[in-house]
Amino acid sequence: MAERTGELPRVVRPDLGGPFPEHIAIIMDGNGRWAEERGLRRVFGHREGIDSVREVTTECARMGVKSLTLYAFSVENWKRPRAEVRYLMRLLRHFLVDERPTLMENAVTLRCIGRLDDLPEEVLRELRKSEALTSANRGMRLRLALSYGARSELADGLRALVLDVQRGALVAAEIDEETLRRYLYDPQTPDPDLLIRTAGELRLSNFLLWQASYSEIHVSEVCWPEFRKAALLAALRDYAGRVRKFGGLISDRATPVPPVRRAVT
Ligand code: FPP
Repeated sequence: MAERTGELPRVVRPDLGGPFPEHIAIIMDGNGRWAEERGLRRVFGHREGIDSVREVTTECARMGVKSLTLYAFSVENWKRPRAEVRYLMRLLRHFLVDERPTLMENAVTLRCIGRLDDLPEEVLRELRKSEALTSANRGMRLRLALSYGARSELADGLRALVLDVQRGALVAAEIDEETLRRYLYDPQTPDPDLLIRTAGELRLSNFLLWQASYSEIHVSEVCWPEFRKAALLAALRDYAGRVRKFGGLISDRATPVPPVRRAVT
C-alpha cells in the first residue's frame, strides 16, 4: 500500500531558534574507524552506516528538509581494495531495493549524481528503478553522490560546454556563473545550506566544490554509523545559530546585496 501512495509526511520542524536549512549535504565518514574500534572488519561499519542513512533520511524528510545529498561513494573510492568495493556495491544494490517502501512512505524522490556509468550494471538497473518509482513523489529529494567527484563534475560539465560552444549553441563571451552551473550534474537543486562531515575530519574531499561555496560547515566528532537523530539535531542547532552573509553585510539571502554607489557630486 505504502508503495502506491508516496503521500507527503506530516512535517514537524523543530524550533531551534533560528534558520532551518533547505538543503543538507553530508560527507558520511568514519565507517571503517567505527568498526575497527570495535574489533570488527571495516565493512561492518558500512553495513551499520545503512541504518544511519535510513534514520537521517527519514528524519530530514519529516522535518521538511527539501534536499539531502549523501556522499556515498567517491570517484577516488574505486582505489580501495577490490573486496571492499564489491561489498559497498552489494550494499548499495540492497539499499536501493530494500529502502523503496521507506522512500515511498516518506514521499522521498531519489536522484543520483556522479559518473553513474562507472557503476556495475545491476546497481545501475536498481538505481534507475528506484528513481522511476519515486519520481512522482512530492517530498524531500534524496541525492546519492555515487562515483562522484567535484573535479570530475567540473571536467564533465566543461567538456559539454565546450562542445556546445563549438556547435554554436553557446556564445563564449556570454558564459557566466549561471551558464556554468547549468552544466553541472543536477543544476535544479539549490546549493547546500549546511554541509555536515562526520568523524571529525576537516576536509571537503572533492565534494560539491562549486555548490558548497557558501555552505555553512558543521563537523561532528561522531562516526557515521552512530550519526543518528541526536547528532542531526546538534548540527541543525549549530546551523540555527549561524549568520549567513554571502560575502555581503546582510544575512537574508533573498535580499540582493546592494551595489556600492559613488556619491554624485
Ligand atoms: C567513509 O567511511 C564512507 C564511505 C566511503 C562510504 C559511505 C557508505 C555508507 C555510509 C554505506 C552505504 C551507503 C549507501 C547510501 C548505500 P570510511 O570507510 O572512509 O571510514 P574511515 O575514514 O574510518 O576509514
